Amino acid sequence: MTYISEITNVMEYEALAKEKLPKMVYDYYASGAEDQWTLQENRNAFSRILFRPRILRDVSKIDMTTTVLGFNISMPIMIAPTAFQKMAHPEGECATARAASAAGTIMTLSSWATSSVEEVSSTGPGIRFFQLYVTKHRNVDAQLVKRAERAGFKAIALTVDTPRLGRREADIKNRFVLPPHLTLKNYEGLYIGKMDKTDDSGLASYVANQIDRSLNWKDVKWLQTITSLPILVKGVLTAEDASLAIQYGAAGIIVSNHGARQLDYVPATVMALEEVVQAAKGRVPVFLDGGVRRGTDVFKALALGASGVFVSI
Ligand code: LAC
Repeated sequence: MTYISEITNVMEYEALAKEKLPKMVYDYYASGAEDQWTLQENRNAFSRILFRPRILRDVSKIDMTTTVLGFNISMPIMIAPTAFQKMAHPEGECATARAASAAGTIMTLSSWATSSVEEVSSTGPGIRFFQLYVTKHRNVDAQLVKRAERAGFKAIALTVDTPRLGRREADIKNRFVLPPHLTLKNYEGLYIGKMDKTDDSGLASYVANQIDRSLNWKDVKWLQTITSLPILVKGVLTAEDASLAIQYGAAGIIVSNHGARQLDYVPATVMALEEVVQAAKGRVPVFLDGGVRRGTDVFKALALGASGVFVSI
């Protein structure tokens, strides 16, 4: 039995979560796609990067504050979007929003949150970004983006790596589905299907039914016609796509492999970071998510040119 009071690092939460959560829920949060090679590599790659420390510098004053898209935050660590947080705790995304705000940093709310943009905004002040999935119902997406804007969200993180869901074998085995007492709150009352239990991963079917697989670069322009919020393109892993993202008007790039939950055998994000930073040439900020567990990981990402990292909770 692990107790919260004994926890000294982020990894130990994982053991605690495994003890406390139903298997279907734990497996959904924890697993990556297929062989989970990229899942391990997201961590392993960080562990291969070593420091070359210099000594006798005055480090008596440390300032971790930074600026992201013009917003001042307490540290270069922000909260990445993750779906269905109420499966872990009844307060779900609202608790995350309060925690992010108390820590002085940015939270990104998932489109597929179990709390709505309005509920999250009603928790109090805080700097928040909204992660967008583009569905086959563009009018619903447009309405949702406008609601996020009205609720005070400051940027849109556009997910671009999920034309179909990665093959997550634990979810298939568990016949994963959102527990019946929860809903995708942002879509309540809107014309969009709900997630049904299937003979497979219910989420995979949901993605197949709802996500617009035709999503392409022109849609980054479309998004700019429906919102004036800055757009972060989330899911970039190459220099080529970094250049295209900037060409199509992205205000920032998130180097991400979706927590290794989408295409397996893509590089660790920290391995892809350098080429993206080089291609961006300082024109827009580059962020990273995936595999960040320790302060040293954050430092490594910053040293390789990231303007900040996002962590999943
Ligand atoms: C996932 C989606 C919902 O990775 O972003 O499960």
